[in-house]
Amino acid sequence: MPGGLLGIESLDRVEIEAILDRAKYFQPQQAEGRKQMLRGRMIVNLFFEASTRTRTSFEIAAKRLGADAISITASGSSVDKGESLVDTLNTLGAMHPDAIVMRHAASGAPHFLARHLPTPIINAGDGTHEHPTQALLDARTILDRRSSLEGLRAAIIGDIAHSRVARSNMYLLSKFGAEIVLCGPASLLPVELSKITPGVTLTHDIREAIRDADVIMMLRVQLERQHEAAFSASEYFRFYGLRLEHMGLAKPDAIVMHPGPINRGREISSEVADSQRSVILNQVENGIAVRMAVLERILTN
Ligand code: NCD
Repeated sequence: MPGGLLGIESLDRVEIEAILDRAKYFQPQQAEGRKQMLRGRMIVNLFFEASTRTRTSFEIAAKRLGADAISITASGSSVDKGESLVDTLNTLGAMHPDAIVMRHAASGAPHFLARHLPTPIINAGDGTHEHPTQALLDARTILDRRSSLEGLRAAIIGDIAHSRVARSNMYLLSKFGAEIVLCGPASLLPVELSKITPGVTLTHDIREAIRDADVIMMLRVQLERQHEAAFSASEYFRFYGLRLEHMGLAKPDAIVMHPGPINRGREISSEVADSQRSVILNQVENGIAVRMAVLERILTN
């Protein structure tokens, strides 16, 4: 992975396992990071789309390892003045950062950048395509509670069509032999997904998806990627919102995940989001450990 991290699809199991193991080592309050293994290195976070968790945790991860981290968002940068992506990137490249973490609304934007710059690029979410560090932190969170991903039944529910989180998780979980059920309304559930990835089935029925699930992964409806919303919030919640009454269908020790930001009363009820089953804040916590592992691997290989 010396060239960066663009997606889960192109990673093999050995690489994924190495990152997850190393993230475990960084977990307890990230104490090990105080060894400052990235002292003197510079990481640029370039975010062309909104972010709270991902941007902050990349920044904290870099700092815990002793690196300098600066964050640039599209608003307030020269992108607002009409600068093209290539010119912005060449400008940043000329400052010789050791890595660029990038989020962009266009699928493939980080791959394009990786072809043009010698700097390692880490994809922090590209359009509807991939969000590799999210899938890694999700896997870390599941493995904190289960010995293996093999044979696990994971239901991924919501706006599958526009979700890079769903894609990266699907690639990762299927590489480790999990059974994946994708669930959502027809307009948000592309049929071809079940054809390209082993272990994936589709359903429009949330109850069928949740039945016997070990992991229930809820997704936000990505209104920013749709021309017009096909449902009102209450209609969506009625058919695809996760509520306490659904939980009895899942395995007794099933966990509820969500990459955030959550929309209470749209895709998940507050009772479930705040319940003992919810590991949403554990995911956030693991985001730092996983990103420490990724940064260390890319910058010290
Ligand atoms: C996700 C994203 O940006 O893809 N958020 C995140 O990184 N935790 C999911 C979302 O925005 O719904």
